[in-house]
Amino acid sequence: MYDAAPEWPPSGIDPEVPSTARVYDALLGGKENFKADREAAEVFTRALPRIADAARLNRDALARGVRYMVGRAGIDQIIDIGCGLPAAPNTHEVAQELDPRARVVYVDNDPMVLSHGRALLADDRTTTVVTADLRDPAAILTNPDLRAHLDFDRPVALMLLNTLMQIADAEDPDAIIATLMAPLASGSHLFITAWPDTGDPSQRALSRACLETLGNGWARPVEAIRGHFQGMPMVAPGLDFIPRWHPGEADGNVPAAEDLEPFERTHMAGIAVKP
Ligand SMILES: C[S@@+](CC[C@H](N)C(=O)[O-])C[C@H]1O[C@@H](n2cnc3c(N)ncnc32)[C@H](O)[C@@H]1O
Repeated sequence: MYDAAPEWPPSGIDPEVPSTARVYDALLGGKENFKADREAAEVFTRALPRIADAARLNRDALARGVRYMVGRAGIDQIIDIGCGLPAAPNTHEVAQELDPRARVVYVDNDPMVLSHGRALLADDRTTTVVTADLRDPAAILTNPDLRAHLDFDRPVALMLLNTLMQIADAEDPDAIIATLMAPLASGSHLFITAWPDTGDPSQRALSRACLETLGNGWARPVEAIRGHFQGMPMVAPGLDFIPRWHPGEADGNVPAAEDLEPFERTHMAGIAVKP
């Protein structure tokens, strides 16, 4: 998979301290993780036994959302913030299957993502990886690599998948999102998956496990997640649990929310469109 052998471990990485990107990689069955990450993944699994399946459901939502935005809405530029370590199918793979010219800028603050992303994307001139912090949205928007890849005069899709739970209330996730959306053209899309706090005991145990091992991981009330979309109109079916979320498709055989198992209610997904 990797043509260029990455420096190992990349500089700036402490293998003794678990990182979100590597714990998530471990949950998805990847190989880019250390013992400390696998131990943290076990703590997650004790809290919510099917957390690995929940992570896979989140990746399914990624593919469905990107397919909708590129295939149905005609978006051909994407910023994927908190992209994580490569895990097929990646955003650019899904997008470029539908539109080979689609451009993707991956953003993450974990140096390992940069190292592995660069190796994965070495030959891909339409795709780039930048290291930046979601908590400094102005720096993301002015990043020269990002600006060279994207045309802000045309609609862009902003993706924040499974990442906002790492931003504390005090860091004001809604203000961060508003800053990121402000310069984007009308017709731009905002695609979020996030952890709702529905009162489910295993969900709360998962949030505690995340706080204990990684120092962040706040599940939020559903209305707070809805607020992330800044009141913009939402693509049907709106914000919903992932097994019920099929953007732009007829309702079909959608399971009732009360019939879902706790791992199926770990994430909600939604896409909004900037008027
Ligand atoms: C659970 S992974 C999600 C990966 C991918 N978006 C997905 O949904 O499959 C969360 C990612 O967000 C990144 N992250 C966490 N806080 C961040 C921040 N403040 N700025 C940028 N990236 C961040 C982590 O390094 C990690 O790679």
